Amino acid sequence: MKLSGKVAIVTGSASGIGRGIALAMAKEGAHVAIVDINEEKGEETLADVNQLTEGALFIKDISKKENVYEIVMAVTEKFGKIDILVNNAHVSRQASFIETTEELLDLSFGTGFYPTFHFMQAAYPELKKAQGKVINFASGAGLDGQVTQTSYAAAKEAIRAISRVAANEWGPEGINVNLISPIALTPGVEQWRENAPELYEAMLNRIPLRRLGDPEQDIGQVAVFLASNDSDYITGQTIMVDGGSIKLR
Ligand SMILES: NC(=O)c1ccc[n+]([C@@H]2O[C@H](COP(=O)([O-])OP(=O)(O)OC[C@H]3O[C@@H](n4cnc5c(N)ncnc54)[C@H](O)[C@@H]3O)[C@@H](O)[C@H]2O)c1
Repeated sequence: MKLSGKVAIVTGSASGIGRGIALAMAKEGAHVAIVDINEEKGEETLADVNQLTEGALFIKDISKKENVYEIVMAVTEKFGKIDILVNNAHVSRQASFIETTEELLDLSFGTGFYPTFHFMQAAYPELKKAQGKVINFASGAGLDGQVTQTSYAAAKEAIRAISRVAANEWGPEGINVNLISPIALTPGVEQWRENAPELYEAMLNRIPLRRLGDPEQDIGQVAVFLASNDSDYITGQTIMVDGGSIKLR
């Protein structure tokens, strides 16, 4: 098992990609701290993780800084360390550039950028001790500047920026910081498909592999790789797990 005895925090892991990552990591022997605001789904993921290894559940709003620090402290107390930090949760609403308000920017930065930043700062002492791995989340919407995604694209590119800085600053200390830019069929994407079916169809036709990824098999396995010693010589990178949609140069 690639993550035997490792301790991982995965935000937004009650459902979607986060759940897929939690299960993929638990199957490789990691203890997973499931962090989410959705209690019902969180309990389901915890029960599934507990079939494989010992997990923990934190039903907390990570847009509040004090909650982030509480979670990091509680995970350290329960499992004695933190090896892996996955900053996956992110909420945003679409609007044209001209209709994007400060409230929409605050929602996207408040649930995506700031929690990523705070978790990285809060977990840093433990990550340093463990020679740990950070996995943050980017998006093709940010890389491509997709229409109606001003608030989301801005927060995602800000996350990429701080990930590169942290990779440079923390590399000498043995901490790896990478990002996944995924495409996967999740409840969030299903909602988006309902709201913007034409954009959804267009996206599917732009994916060379002509399908959306599976949260556990396609995204979770890459997260396992980035969390394991197999990726020790990779840092500061955005890994495209998007069926070939975007080729970074
Ligand atoms: N699904 C895709 O195709 C796709 C594409 C590009 C990028 N991404 C990125 O991948 C990540 C996961 O995407 P997803 O589609 O699984 O998302 P999702 O919306 O399906 O799931 C997000 C999870 O985060 C939780 N959450 C939301 N706000 C929270 C808060 N304040 N505190 C704690 N938990 C909170 C939700 O309850 C949910 O369980 C995100 O960063 C997303 O931006 C996804």
